[in-house]
Amino acid sequence: MKRRELLLRGASTGAVATLLPALSTSSLAAPTPQFGPGMPDGLPMPPPLAGPSPRLPETDPSRTLLERGWRFHEGEVAIAEPADHNATYLSVKAGNARGAAALAFDDSDWQAVDLPHDWAIAQDVRESANVSQGYRPRGIGWYRRLLRLDKSQKGRRLELHFDGIATHATIWVNGSEVAHSWSGYSSVIVDLTPFARFGDELNWIAVRVDATAREGWWYEGAGLYRHVWLVSRPAVSIETDGVYCDPVHQDDGTWLVPVQVSLSNVGENMAEAEISTRLLDPDGREIHRTGGRISVPPLEQAQVVNRFDPGTVKLWSPDSPVLYCIEVDLLHDGEVVDTRRQFIGFRTVRFDPARGMVLNGVETKLKGVCIHQDHTGVGTAIPDALALWRLQRLKAMGCNAIRMSHNAPAKEVLDWCDRLGFVVMGENRLFNPAPDYLAQLEWMVRRDRNHPSIVLWSVFNEEPMQGTHAGVEMVRRMRAAVRKLDRQRPVTAAMNGSFYNPENVSSVVDVMGFNYYQGDYDKFHALHPDKPITSSEDTSAYETRGAFGSIPAQQVITSFDKEAASWGATHRDTWKMIAERPYVAGGFVWTGFDYHGEPTPYAWPTVSSFFGIMDLCGFPKTAFGIHSAHWRDDAPVIWLAPHWTWPEYEAPGREGQTLEVFAITNAEAIELRLNGEVIERVPAADRIMGHTFQVPYRPGRIEAVALRGGKVVARAVHETTGAPVALRLTPARQALASDGEDVQAITVDCVDSRGRHVPTANLPVDFTISGGRIIGLGNGNPNDHASEKGSKRALFNGLAQVIVEGDASGRRLTLEARTAGLRPARLALARAPRAPRPQVPPVPAEMPITDWRRSASFAQKPDPAFAPVDGDNNSWDFVRSGIAAPAGSSGWRSYRTRFTPWRKVAGEGGTLHFAQITGTAEVWLDGKLVARKTDAAPAALSAPLSAGTGARTLVVLIEAAQGAASGLTGRVYVSA
Ligand code: GAL
Repeated sequence: MKRRELLLRGASTGAVATLLPALSTSSLAAPTPQFGPGMPDGLPMPPPLAGPSPRLPETDPSRTLLERGWRFHEGEVAIAEPADHNATYLSVKAGNARGAAALAFDDSDWQAVDLPHDWAIAQDVRESANVSQGYRPRGIGWYRRLLRLDKSQKGRRLELHFDGIATHATIWVNGSEVAHSWSGYSSVIVDLTPFARFGDELNWIAVRVDATAREGWWYEGAGLYRHVWLVSRPAVSIETDGVYCDPVHQDDGTWLVPVQVSLSNVGENMAEAEISTRLLDPDGREIHRTGGRISVPPLEQAQVVNRFDPGTVKLWSPDSPVLYCIEVDLLHDGEVVDTRRQFIGFRTVRFDPARGMVLNGVETKLKGVCIHQDHTGVGTAIPDALALWRLQRLKAMGCNAIRMSHNAPAKEVLDWCDRLGFVVMGENRLFNPAPDYLAQLEWMVRRDRNHPSIVLWSVFNEEPMQGTHAGVEMVRRMRAAVRKLDRQRPVTAAMNGSFYNPENVSSVVDVMGFNYYQGDYDKFHALHPDKPITSSEDTSAYETRGAFGSIPAQQVITSFDKEAASWGATHRDTWKMIAERPYVAGGFVWTGFDYHGEPTPYAWPTVSSFFGIMDLCGFPKTAFGIHSAHWRDDAPVIWLAPHWTWPEYEAPGREGQTLEVFAITNAEAIELRLNGEVIERVPAADRIMGHTFQVPYRPGRIEAVALRGGKVVARAVHETTGAPVALRLTPARQALASDGEDVQAITVDCVDSRGRHVPTANLPVDFTISGGRIIGLGNGNPNDHASEKGSKRALFNGLAQVIVEGDASGRRLTLEARTAGLRPARLALARAPRAPRPQVPPVPAEMPITDWRRSASFAQKPDPAFAPVDGDNNSWDFVRSGIAAPAGSSGWRSYRTRFTPWRKVAGEGGTLHFAQITGTAEVWLDGKLVARKTDAAPAALSAPLSAGTGARTLVVLIEAAQGAASGLTGRVYVSA
């Protein structure tokens, strides 16, 4: 396609915008209260946040969620070989896909599902399944959905967006193969326009997902695990990801926002497009407006480039994530017909070889974590509200950077990163500059290049070819592809060795990324003093949440930050290496959260990882306290481990034994007290390594007090609890929105008679819910094989999690938890009114009969048995119902088809429906006359369909009135 360009310049206006949904970023700033062991009741989770989870503003109103009314089949659906030559001939024609991709396939016994959907997480773990993928069988799965497009949609640009399908996928629309996807982390964008059917003629979408394919060595889920959208835009419209507006800081200190809008035209004629572009300030007020006109030839693209000189702006930073908005309207006859909103932030980022990352002129250490898209109970199908909650957990720890390892994240995650204030290393999944794969990298950069959060692109993670000539050539090409699309951000690659090979990729990246190899920082820096350096991945330390002693035989690892992979180091040793070197931009801990799979250093029966700073539920391990002390400067922090419930209420205790106690703070001094008595005072606390004390165990109250200038600024307390007497449910937020989408993680624990969290309880708990549903459960134990679906879960070291989704009724959601011998807990969650986001309505399934052969016209009524000879594809027309035979040719035509009724109808019989027949007609089923239409005027007709298995032959003889159109002018279908 040819590209056209037009350059225009913005003019300042004072008008006030009304369209921008107000969502102040400050209201999202993660709460940073002191929490953890310092909470009086000992629950290591923050108190509930006010209100429901916020929702992201809609940035593309042409999209509607297409997530309800899908059918799912787990496993392959075999396609029979075509029986003969003619069947073979027909099988390869457009629209004629067979098996589960065929229009009329009977999916009535498939499971009804809503998206996002990860079918692997519902599987039981099996030792024979892949260790890295968490011992969960993945396999093949099929999805189908019927779609009705109103006649008014004809002529518009229609797209389907699948934001992520794990892992390989083939997509059919109306029996034509429309897309293949070779990566589970790229969007699949289907141009539906040429395949669409309108009005009563329904559309079938079929997706075959091959999750036997692997792209990672971690749990990847299976199925349509991210959002799916139907997009409807005018014939001339703004393209998907078609607005590029990354602010540029100029040498003279001023800002420029070039806004490049890509348009395309699916219409038949050259069209004039008018663009109006506005820059909105953080309060949604318009501060500048510009625009332009351009003509877009049919089936071509054109680009309009505007520029804003915004003058003085508020800067974006992790501490102050201020967002502006570019709003682009496409106008037709003065009316807005298509709109996109793109949030932007003004910040300068530079990676300096001596000073690390310089953000807005200030050295800013990357206090980062690597994450996968995975959570207990839901696997990879993480609802938006849960994705936000996970990021808020990181923010509360003082984390300011995230590496999206090792793939593009869901778009919503980046939107939240912009709003919460994280800088992000975007990362490509597959290291390959061949066109199919380069397209994945280009898609990612095009989609994500406006985000202020994104500061670096990583083209690979740990590739064995990194120290070869071929590796260098590959990176050169991938970097060049990034450069073409993003003029500003540096490119890195996460290398694990080969840094000193004569040819290695460190020579062709802008920023050197070290995975581990911390002992090489200084050597590399000395050899390449002009090359900026960051740790792209580090740590890989192991902890089981709530365990304070390793038990190798049980595959349990202490949470005292003592054990790490041979290639990694403890949290504290790692950060020391990074913190002490100003030239190292920062680090990315492997990992922020545990994830399914990769159970290193163990294997079965361990099924999830030990690497997380938090467990699979987002419950903090000691590492959370360590990083809070390392990273938070906004508030005093102190963390104390272990809990103080030894002797356990039910087991022989440790009375008199000397216990190891660990405390860490960002304050000046620590005082450790047991039962009010000062045991030890540390006047100059080590913020990085913390302090270990040996304390003879006495039940009661252990307390670590953080001091600054002699004043107590924070304290962490553990008390020896009694036996549990009651369960407790603590929500993440005080309310749940009534939009049918909001979800919440509920913490489950039990308390003793004084209401204190019992950290050692491992009791089985049963849940009942009303006003919503449980979408998953977990407890963070890497060795637990219980299902993460259903309504039961045991506490593990005192904690479990239930994730609930509210329905759209607005009824109060109640969750009850029970275990034998304890008082049950009941939680009533208030509902906050919020309209559901529009969803494409589900369509009740019906069996269509769309494809017919039509004879020539005869003066005499043909015999119903009259048929083209086998293999004759040339004497009878192929026609689809809904299309009339041309007017003028009076006489009789025969319409023939063969169809196999769906199981229910085959067993019980049903009805044949002709929505409209034009002309007089006779309907013959398997050689028998079953209905007759005596009036030539267009009208509906129905006929009984007797029960019977196998293929049926349907013939409709239609006589046209003199000079009039005739035929099967409406849809034909079968109902039960
Ligand atoms: C790294 C790798 C990560 C993870 C980690 C575990 O080498 O990049 O994906 O496998 O090791 O230590």
